[in-house]
Amino acid sequence: MAASPPVHSTGSAKRRSPWLRLLGGGAAAVIAAAGVMAVMPDASAAESTLGAAAAQSGRYFGTAIAASRLSNSTYSTIAAREFNMITAENEMKPDALQPNRGQFNFSSGDQIYNWATQRGLKVRGHTLAWHAQQPGWMQSLSGSSLRQAMIDHINGVMAHYKGKLAAWDVVNEAFNEDGSRRTSNLQGTGNDWIEVAFRTARAADPSVKLCYNDYNIENWSYGKTQGVYNMIRDFKSRGVPIDCVGLQTHFTGGSSLPGNFQTTLSSFAALGVDVALTEVDVTNSSTSQYAGLTQACLNVPRCIGITVWGVRDSDSWRSGENPLLFDGNGNKKAAYTSVLNALNSAGPGNPTSPPPSTTPPPSGDGTRIVGSQSGRCIDVPGATQTNGTRVQLYDCNGQAQQTWTLTSSKQLTVYGSRCLDAAGSGNGSAVQIYSCNGQANQQWNVNTNGTITGVQSGRCLDVWGSGNGQQVQIYDCNGQANQRFSRS
Ligand code: XIL
Repeated sequence: MAASPPVHSTGSAKRRSPWLRLLGGGAAAVIAAAGVMAVMPDASAAESTLGAAAAQSGRYFGTAIAASRLSNSTYSTIAAREFNMITAENEMKPDALQPNRGQFNFSSGDQIYNWATQRGLKVRGHTLAWHAQQPGWMQSLSGSSLRQAMIDHINGVMAHYKGKLAAWDVVNEAFNEDGSRRTSNLQGTGNDWIEVAFRTARAADPSVKLCYNDYNIENWSYGKTQGVYNMIRDFKSRGVPIDCVGLQTHFTGGSSLPGNFQTTLSSFAALGVDVALTEVDVTNSSTSQYAGLTQACLNVPRCIGITVWGVRDSDSWRSGENPLLFDGNGNKKAAYTSVLNALNSAGPGNPTSPPPSTTPPPSGDGTRIVGSQSGRCIDVPGATQTNGTRVQLYDCNGQAQQTWTLTSSKQLTVYGSRCLDAAGSGNGSAVQIYSCNGQANQQWNVNTNGTITGVQSGRCLDVWGSGNGQQVQIYDCNGQANQRFSRS
């Protein structure tokens, strides 16, 4: 196990519901029992980094990272400070991970993964099946041989990162501008190659979100957007596993923010998938376009996060267009401020925050959670999904090791004396953690302001009975660690 495993919980739920119960006297009783002062933070306080500001509404703000740049301290300092989701710019692409058939090389991908998770940042996987950046041996394949190579690649890569990533871009850029399928060696293996990729991916790692990712699908009236939309609709109707659509959002080189961008996001979301802006850059960093694309995401509850395609202008694949949020010297640009302000405007309690669940909580009497002193994360590294499997939760510093049992009813139950504790109940009593939409395998993101937000669902870690946007405090069994959770 890595020293700093990913945030990952096997907490699962059967219904759309908040997760942990603070019943009876509620938070006040817990606070009193712990004998410490409750300090409710100002929910309207503006955050000073992109990641923390996005987290206020349950979202993330990410960047693409190049492994070769991590040794530059200006670069890595900004990246670690501002962002809480990381995409490998090139290091998890097919040519990087399987340079020779059957021989995987995860060194650069792992370098980025380890750098991110050691800092408590999540990682998006990019990308498994793509017409570009294939290793030479794959480029020369076709037909059933290429189809099998694609399947083998997905299985090999996903096995390595199983349970560790927030999402995978399973298929990238498979459509033409007119909405037809792009001609490629992968398309030549049969029109079903995309759904085969997704089915393979789901089987390889059932816990990671599976995304289709593309560019020029931001304008709702554009042919390519409609082509992708129709595929997602078809997949959902036939049960092909897909969880999310990534809109690259390269507003550069002639394209710009369309007025109907929010319509596009909400239309995809209405199909039952999350949406994310995955590779944002904007020619000359237009402040209005940056603010507009950010606001469009904030206005759509299932828009779970935004990733910009690089840190400084000088790091961009289109550096000549100065399209990012930091200049070559690492200074914040005007576009940075426009994004930060938009994110802060959608903080706790703001109507644009993802809606809370309205379903009543399940029965049970869990009243407090034993958190790690670091308050960093809840993690089940590499845990199987088999009911009854005993798993361990680690904090991000590897300090706290708590043992849990995933029961047949998909609850995490107390095991031993280091526990998620239901006060007044003995060891072994069940407590329940629910994501707000009841999704299995919710991942949690502890933000710099101490709040926790869901990553996979983009929803919240919810304390039933507290008001929207209200922050509550949860104490460990010894009253040592105060961890704040925000209902968003
Ligand atoms: C780009 C990288 O930024 C470059 O460093 C590389 O040379 C080519 O690929 N769409 C995608 C990304 O999905 O993977 C691409 O990244 C940019 C366009």
